[in-house]
Amino acid sequence: MTITVRRASPKDAAAYARFMNDPAVFAGLMQMPHTDEDIWRIRLTEACDPARIDLPLVAVVGGEVVGSSGLHPVGPALRRRHAMMLGISVAREAQGRGVGTALMAAMCDYADRWIGALRLELTVYTDNERAIGLYRKFGFEIEGTFKGYALRDGRYVDAYAMARLHPDPPRVAGNS
Ligand SMILES: CC(C)(COP(=O)(O)OP(=O)(O)OC[C@H]1O[C@@H](n2cnc3c(N)ncnc32)[C@H](O)[C@@H]1OP(=O)(O)O)[C@@H](O)C(=O)NCCC(=O)NCCS
Repeated sequence: MTITVRRASPKDAAAYARFMNDPAVFAGLMQMPHTDEDIWRIRLTEACDPARIDLPLVAVVGGEVVGSSGLHPVGPALRRRHAMMLGISVAREAQGRGVGTALMAAMCDYADRWIGALRLELTVYTDNERAIGLYRKFGFEIEGTFKGYALRDGRYVDAYAMARLHPDPPRVAGNS
């Protein structure tokens, strides 16, 4: 299976609406039921603005967008410019086939080698074993637990704070 990763575009709104409206996807995230193509077009138009430093990516298999991910600034504080927040989602039918791995590899490469981010952070529900397995594979560690972090399908559920520090921060060329 060939997986291509590229920058997302507002033209991907229909694909986002299709896979994000599935409880197997949105329930694992902070997304809501009943999103549609119009909502995703507005969000993607904002996220894809070249003036923003966010990195919105999609994964494409056989011409179909089957996954998305993003790197986002954690906020406006200058003293946290070394940190970026990460999110990822893969369509139900494409899960467990390496799409998440391809998106994570692209985001870690971009963070490590092109923007010099020192710290990547995320939250994940404590029962999302596949996501936790994926994050551990890329060097993320659990740093703590948020109790009753978010409402998910009628219950407040816990989430882990996970983070990954740059394994080999960049140096000035020529200075070993
Ligand atoms: C979590 C998610 C992004 C993972 O993407 P994916 O394409 O399914 O993952 P991959 O097929 O690349 O698997 C990656 C790794 O996850 C781990 N993994 C996969 N299935 C697992 C399972 N059932 N239990 C534990 N770890 C598992 C493995 O380490 C695997 O790597 P390996 O195959 O080299 O051993 C995807 O399943 C998804 O979008 N789920 C719904 C939305 C979501 O929960 N997003 C994360 C929010 S924090």
